[in-house]
Amino acid sequence: MTYTQDHLDELLAWATRERPGYSAILEHVLASEVGAKSEDRVARRVQKSGLPEYKTFEAFDWDFQPTIDKGFVLELAGLDFVERRDDIVITGDSGTGKSHILKAIGLRACQQGISFRYVRCVDLLQDLHAGLADDSYLRRLKGWMRPQLLVIDDVGLGHVRKRDDEPTAAHTLFNLIDRRHANASTAITSNIQLRDWGRYLGDATITMAILDRLAMHALRMNIKGSSYRQHVARERGNVGPFLADDTSGPESPEGGED
Ligand SMILES: Nc1ncnc2c1ncn2[C@@H]1O[C@H](COP(=O)(O)OP(=O)(O)OP(=O)(O)O)[C@@H](O)[C@H]1O
Ligand SMILES: [Mg+2]
Repeated sequence: MTYTQDHLDELLAWATRERPGYSAILEHVLASEVGAKSEDRVARRVQKSGLPEYKTFEAFDWDFQPTIDKGFVLELAGLDFVERRDDIVITGDSGTGKSHILKAIGLRACQQGISFRYVRCVDLLQDLHAGLADDSYLRRLKGWMRPQLLVIDDVGLGHVRKRDDEPTAAHTLFNLIDRRHANASTAITSNIQLRDWGRYLGDATITMAILDRLAMHALRMNIKGSSYRQHVARERGNVGPFLADDTSGPESPEGGED
């Protein structure tokens, strides 16, 4: 009864104010206790998952990004796709909400007790390649294979470094995607189009094999729109250097692509 102990004054003030019957007091205290315990449980799951921040669908401004199919995204948020072991691939321009959507889906997974991990693509590759150096590769690979839902965020962002004795990023990613394929859901965001993944991951043929597997079960979304980051910058009156050398030309920062 930790919550009750910590909030005793509050609960007594409520009981004095509302004057509920004994059974109503008991119900209220137990409900508060259960609610607090479940919040703690979710917070622990979020922390273990590697999710860097809480993003929610409630905080998502759907009107700002009208090309997003809200019904489709909320259907994903129901997490039935995890049950079906389907994958998700979201591509699109920078700042259009790709990571926000997958982070919000990840939070829902934590709330529903679905095993979930979040990782940025470059960090995943670095982790697996570190395993080659100290013989922990297989253990690490198994760790990434395990969650029912794995979010690999930001494919295309960050430099994929490769030492001569390391496989290409494509090989490393293939090893993981191939093992997860049809066994567990993988959700990916990318700010580069799929046709450019081969160049980014360093091997066009292996990348084709990755995309072939994803194509089989992946729910696809491509977000075309303006950057929410630049929207926030504009709202703060920050229309200086970032927007000034925009390709839309000097005449209208509002009319350009951001
Ligand atoms: N429609 C939206 N409503 C509210 N916040 C949004 C919306 N779109 C994006 N954001 C916010 O803007 C910021 C950038 O969004 P996000 O990280 O999802 O972009 P991204 O598409 O993943 O971009 P990148 O390709 O650069 O990683 C985040 O703080 C996110 O919460
Ligand atoms: Mg992102």
